[in-house]
Amino acid sequence: MIRLRNLTKTYDGRRILRGIDLQVEAGEFLFLTGASGAGKSTLLKLLYAAERPTAGGVWVAGQRVDQLSRHKLALLRRKVGVVFQDFKLLRHKTVLENVTFVLRFQGLGARDAHRRAYQVLKRLGLHHRQSALPEVLSGGEQQRVAIARALAYQPRLILADEPTGNLDADLAGELLSLLCDINYQGATIMVATHDHSLLEAMPARTLILNQGLIEYDGSWPP
Ligand SMILES: Nc1ncnc2c1ncn2[C@@H]1O[C@H](COP(=O)(O)OP(=O)(O)OP(=O)(O)O)[C@@H](O)[C@H]1O
Ligand SMILES: [Mg+2]
Repeated sequence: MIRLRNLTKTYDGRRILRGIDLQVEAGEFLFLTGASGAGKSTLLKLLYAAERPTAGGVWVAGQRVDQLSRHKLALLRRKVGVVFQDFKLLRHKTVLENVTFVLRFQGLGARDAHRRAYQVLKRLGLHHRQSALPEVLSGGEQQRVAIARALAYQPRLILADEPTGNLDADLAGELLSLLCDINYQGATIMVATHDHSLLEAMPARTLILNQGLIEYDGSWPP
């Protein structure tokens, strides 16, 4: 599902990623951890082609994403759900609309989109806020809407960057179990986090990023 070859990313002459090789099979669940500034978010952005590599290649679902045309990239992105740190909700749409919008865009009918959006929001404890606008929500609530939006259309690959950053322990646990269910249904999931309690809560393949390289790839704890 994911293949990285000699992936290198330089910002302003600083080498953030220094030739990373990685292979992730379809259906895997993996954590990406490492100190703040290690390059976790950068790696996820490269996978989503939100950034371009300085050198090396990125393959997702068999396609070389750093060389795709805009059109093909848009098609590929439909299979990928992303939860990024700088998530953006549509300001003038309600919570429910923020989620149904993506589903409608994916081609779902209004009824199905509405039903599925409601189910995911309920799972994340947000159904009572469905008519609210993002600006009146707390940071954690907004984050959950962004998560609901990424998960609702059942993408094949989910890239989540610190998805529990603004959540309390109960909600973080609920989110993790939701991700587990989705993984069980076949989706590949990659979660970047520096929260070790998440790693402890769920045994999974864990990558530790250090000094621009994958220093460890195995079960947690190392
Ligand atoms: N667009 C950018 N321009 C310049 N430098 C950047 C840019 N994006 C990231 N960096 C730098 O790259 C390094 C890695 O950043 P990144 O956000 O990937 O780290 P991270 O591991 O996700 O950290 P955190 O745990 O704090 O989220 C940092 O030193 C950061 O300042
Ligand atoms: Mg980050």
